[in-house]
Amino acid sequence: MENPEVNVPKMGLLAFLRKLPSMNRNLILFFKEILDQNDGLIKLPNKLTLTDDAELIRYFLQKNNSNYIKTSLVRTFVRDQIGDGLFTSDGKYWLKQRRAIQAGFHKKKLVGISKIMLDEINQYMDNILDVYAETNQEIDLEKEMTYLASKVVSKSLFGQEFDNEKIDVIDDSIAKANEYIVAVAKQPFLKPWYHLNGAYKHIVKQKNIRDKFILDFIEERKKSGESKDDLLGMLLDTEYEDGSKMTNKQLLDESIILIVAGNKTSAVTMAWLFYLLAKHPGIEEKVLQSVTEILGDEEPSIESIRSLTYPLQVLEETMRMYPVVWLIDREPVEDDEFSGIKIKKGEDIAAFVYGLHHNPKYWKDPECFDPERFTPENKKEQVPFSYLPFGGGPRICIGKNFAIMEMQFILAMFIRRYKFVLSPGQNIGFKPLLTLSPTNGIKVRVQKRNPAS
Ligand code: HEM
Repeated sequence: MENPEVNVPKMGLLAFLRKLPSMNRNLILFFKEILDQNDGLIKLPNKLTLTDDAELIRYFLQKNNSNYIKTSLVRTFVRDQIGDGLFTSDGKYWLKQRRAIQAGFHKKKLVGISKIMLDEINQYMDNILDVYAETNQEIDLEKEMTYLASKVVSKSLFGQEFDNEKIDVIDDSIAKANEYIVAVAKQPFLKPWYHLNGAYKHIVKQKNIRDKFILDFIEERKKSGESKDDLLGMLLDTEYEDGSKMTNKQLLDESIILIVAGNKTSAVTMAWLFYLLAKHPGIEEKVLQSVTEILGDEEPSIESIRSLTYPLQVLEETMRMYPVVWLIDREPVEDDEFSGIKIKKGEDIAAFVYGLHHNPKYWKDPECFDPERFTPENKKEQVPFSYLPFGGGPRICIGKNFAIMEMQFILAMFIRRYKFVLSPGQNIGFKPLLTLSPTNGIKVRVQKRNPAS
């Protein structure tokens, strides 16, 4: 039996314009408000259908995913800036790349990378965090975690010999590209102006330098004939079904995508995590106890973190409260329908992940930080597709295991040595850019738990 057509609530242009100030104040809270008022489904004047309904999201991300591609913003501006890698490609090419690269992210393959990660985290603690603790300097957690995550992802990708100064140039070029993408997404009519005033030319110049650094490095690695245990080594070894290998341009594009997708996401999540722990000393104490009981003074490993179940619950609850990828959008290739909801070809549809994670339909007392939601028993009760920090369906984050390992390492290693104390007088809100970041950072001071160590 066919479902009767559902009348999708529409927000008219006038109502939209009236809401502009509240939208500009905080887009996420604005989306949440209009979805709460419209039973989880609304169409905006730009034809974007927005939803925080788990079943509908499951439908377009998983059940009928082949009808949905990345939006025109990704296919044009984002691809132009960061190339045609896993995150930005679609269809047959995406599937071919995904199949080829996926194997490199399996847990077994991550052993070599785990050593690089531990090394970077240790260096950061010894050379930087210890100094902050000694000098009692105020630091911004988001900025610091971004620095650390950038080193972790770049060195995991290119190996420890990769030059720190080159990493900074690459990061800077990506940050400028991100700013440009956000600017043209918000005000597309300004694009010609950026071409006229030289801003676009400057971004392209930086992009060319960035690409040359990476291409030269790939060439050198190829010439050396060495086989290394890093992500580039994995990409170089990757063979397609017909036995052929990736070209240098493909290696470049996939490398950049891994840096872009793997830096801010983990960094901002860790900033939120330490913020939440600082606000909930009882939970912080339990994490410390669990880490000390399980690891003692030992360094964590890919094996031992499997026993860190309570710290993992805390990480999962952090990603529920603050899903850094707060919106996942797609464009339907053909007209479609789900339970009477008509989805028109070419009109974007988006999963509002923040709203999903704060939806009382799926989460009791959603504003409360409660890691008990993620005990193995409680996880079984969760509604499918009500928790999507890493997305869902075939395009689920390929770096999920990598990211969880990295974040578990950082949590376990930091908490044994340091306590972060929030600076007073901060009003910490969030600003939705490409990732869900804190409005003005998170200011803390670092205390050593055992100052003699
Ligand atoms: C806390 C950390 C992370 C979060 C929350 C996260 C989240 C996500 C989400 C939600 C998606 C799906 C986007 C969509 O469907 O449009 C995604 C895709 C992706 N992520 Fe992550 N990510 C994280 C870390 C990483 C890391 C460390 C890497 C690589 C080293 C990575 C690489 C990718 C790639 C390549 C894709 C595209 C996959 C595809 O389309 O096939 N991510 N990520």
